[in-house]
Amino acid sequence: MRFIIKSYGCQMNSYDSQRMEDSLLKAGYRRANSLEDARLIVFNTCCIREKASEKLFSDLGRVRALMDKSSEKFLIAVTGCVAQFQGQEVLKRAPWVNIILGPQDIHQIAAKVDESMKKHVSGKLTAAALGAQDKFKRLSKQFFRRNIAEFITIQEGCDNFCTYCVVPYARGREFSRDVAEIIQEAERLILLGSKEITLLGQNVNAYAGKGPDGEKCDLASLLEKLAQLKGLKRLRYVTSHPRYVDEKIAEAHKKNDILAPSLHLPIQAGSNRVLERMNRKYTVEEYLKCVQMLRKHRPDMALSSDFIVGFPGETDEDFQQTIELVEKVKFSQAYSFRYSPRPNTAAATMADQIPDSVKTKRLKILQDILNKQQNEFNRSFVGKRLNVLFTKNGRHKNQMTGRSEYAQAVTVCDGVVSVGDIVEVEVTETLAHSLIGRIA
Ligand code: SAH
Ligand code: SF4
Ligand code: F3S
Repeated sequence: MRFIIKSYGCQMNSYDSQRMEDSLLKAGYRRANSLEDARLIVFNTCCIREKASEKLFSDLGRVRALMDKSSEKFLIAVTGCVAQFQGQEVLKRAPWVNIILGPQDIHQIAAKVDESMKKHVSGKLTAAALGAQDKFKRLSKQFFRRNIAEFITIQEGCDNFCTYCVVPYARGREFSRDVAEIIQEAERLILLGSKEITLLGQNVNAYAGKGPDGEKCDLASLLEKLAQLKGLKRLRYVTSHPRYVDEKIAEAHKKNDILAPSLHLPIQAGSNRVLERMNRKYTVEEYLKCVQMLRKHRPDMALSSDFIVGFPGETDEDFQQTIELVEKVKFSQAYSFRYSPRPNTAAATMADQIPDSVKTKRLKILQDILNKQQNEFNRSFVGKRLNVLFTKNGRHKNQMTGRSEYAQAVTVCDGVVSVGDIVEVEVTETLAHSLIGRIA
């Protein structure tokens, strides 16, 4: 039987999709090239904002239409964060779904598919095993194909309970994988040709896995261990919560060239009043101190961030403070979102919800400034050289694309490099979201 996995949401979901793909291939299922060609369709879902959840429901509608037109039998699985957070709603709105598995249950995918095929069970909700946390030990250890730049989840779940966020409900409590397990996985990726690894965690700086000596190991020590691996050229980690970034990690950036000088450090808002209502547990002043500390050790550190506009109670003055913060820090890149109320989260029932029209207006103002900063950051490299790790062929002949150490997308057109090479590129031009250059 042929399968397809459609992945929504963050990098952790992409990672989970890849591990599910390995499990299905190992069980003898084969990849399909398109939705039409597949008989097993897996939606690995995200519910961070309402739009993300609704995307699943519209895709489930499209699949229903496909099923109605076909005489073939289909199996539909919904996995990931919507499965955990809104599983009952999925079954109610799309009773043609056969399998529902939350993010901590995805190791069961092949077994559930086998079972569904044999018994024709439909609409079976698996237990919400958020406490179990043993999926990593039970997922297939065999990897089928990997890319030049890959991910490893090292920490999962979140205990921070920011008042707008579903992650603690969808992924469960914070949990760190053992050091030995992570190193083994990194070695397996390197053998398959990966040159860059990004370590993933919803609160990655809170990593506290068991080391070989039985002692707890922190993120900086784990990075030091991974930096020793032969064949690995670049290391990144995401997402850092400003409250957990310490001097030890900044020093690790200074000491290890393999650690890319770019960091994603979401601030969310530039007003202390809003940050407190968000339960972010830091102030603007503390965030700025953290930025200063990072740049003391790595003056060239490129910072990216996330912002939410229109959080309940956000006044024009609060929003103005966000703009001031952006002007102070100067980000190399950023994501920004309109606040989206999520069921069961504290902020959804706060008074003073902001009208959509105000959110849209503020988002536009913020995005214009962030885009300008990204352009300025990129333009500052014209005529200069960057180390680019080439990850894939470009759209045109002789075109190759990769990423600079500062996480910018870079394309060259004199394709004398191969995928996996790190090469010095002289930047000749900047486009909206990428750089063009030639091999130096
Ligand atoms: N663990 C990361 C964030 C993961 S979610 C952190 O603490 O920064 C990714 C981003 O989605 C968040 O940084 C936030 O900007 C945004 N986000 C999360 N919940 C949201 C909501 N309810 N509405 C709008 N944006 C949201
Ligand atoms: Fe969500 Fe906050 Fe945890 Fe990030 S730190 S995942 S925003 S609860
Ligand atoms: Fe979405 Fe779940 Fe990631 S809600 S952002 S897929 S942790």
